[in-house]
Amino acid sequence: MDDLHKRLKVIEEEAKSAAAAAAAKSIEALRQAESRFLGKKGSLNEIVKSVGKLPPEQRAEVGRLANDAKRLVKEIFASMRQDSTARAAEAERQQAVAYDPTLPGPVAPSGGIHPTTAVLWELTDVFERMGFVVEAGPEMESEFYNFESLNIPSWHPARDSQDTFWLTNGLLLRTHTSAMQVRAMRKYGPPLRVVVPGMCFRNETVDASHETTFHQFEGFLVDRHISVGNLKAFLQLMLREVFKRDVKIRLRPGYFPFVEPGLECDMSCLICGGKGCPTCKYEGWVELLGSGMIHPNVLTAGGIDPHEYTGFAFGVGPTRLAMMKYGIGDIRLMNSCDLRGLIPPERLTGPTIKTT
Ligand code: DAH
Repeated sequence: MDDLHKRLKVIEEEAKSAAAAAAAKSIEALRQAESRFLGKKGSLNEIVKSVGKLPPEQRAEVGRLANDAKRLVKEIFASMRQDSTARAAEAERQQAVAYDPTLPGPVAPSGGIHPTTAVLWELTDVFERMGFVVEAGPEMESEFYNFESLNIPSWHPARDSQDTFWLTNGLLLRTHTSAMQVRAMRKYGPPLRVVVPGMCFRNETVDASHETTFHQFEGFLVDRHISVGNLKAFLQLMLREVFKRDVKIRLRPGYFPFVEPGLECDMSCLICGGKGCPTCKYEGWVELLGSGMIHPNVLTAGGIDPHEYTGFAFGVGPTRLAMMKYGIGDIRLMNSCDLRGLIPPERLTGPTIKTT
């Protein structure tokens, strides 16, 4: 009887390791291994069959032990089968996930657009639709186009307010896109409609609202019978396009040597709705741009007869507009390279691609 005990123990151990090894291969291997132990010719059945040949007093005991062993081995294989079926199903699922060509691919992170770029695209788009030509112009500019042609001779105090980066080659970094006015007048002649998006440079101390390198967007129109009324209408239209709603503006006198009259344009603060807040310094109005009727001296420098033609001009900071539109309080954030400040393409309200 002791011998039988030992034999059954050995069979159980063999069954365990055979089941584990077969499960690692395949369900079919597991089935074959099982039949080696439990099949008709399996080792356990051999024992059961031999019961008949035993002396009657041993038969019950041996039969019981053999059946216990059979049950145990069955359980071992059953649990292995369950394990490996689950694993096979999981592997199949993972394979399907990895290679299923019908599933949508992983979403690639998309780039964003800088708020200033977004506003510049909108500005050029709205003016192009109204027949304006887009001119870039040189960033290295001559004293003539940046100052003299704009009615700012060398002795003029207005030069002081534009802290200029003078270059060693006799040129300067343009302090404003107004420098393109006379260039464009000479190039196109009257009547003309031009916008100039571009970078400008001033040797200024950087603070919450000043940068040494900044964008400007200049616009000017010369034709017969152009008045301040036309200027106001274009400005209002421009702001409505950028902000996607009517924006209240006010014009008040301001001095710029290249326009007469010169007009400062303020817009009603969008942050507080005109009631007063820190952004508008509790005035309800935000200074937006400089503008006016083009000075006769400038038209003359551009080869245009001021008795026949008049025109308006304005210069706006697209960064200032972008800050208002997107509620950004400090201009330094605009050059901070902080990617969280970019506008995802789906939030753009204007054109999404601009090549000019
Ligand atoms: N060029 C001016 C500046 O940079 C802005 C400006 C004012 C432009 C009046 C204009 C204008 O065209 O008419 O401060």
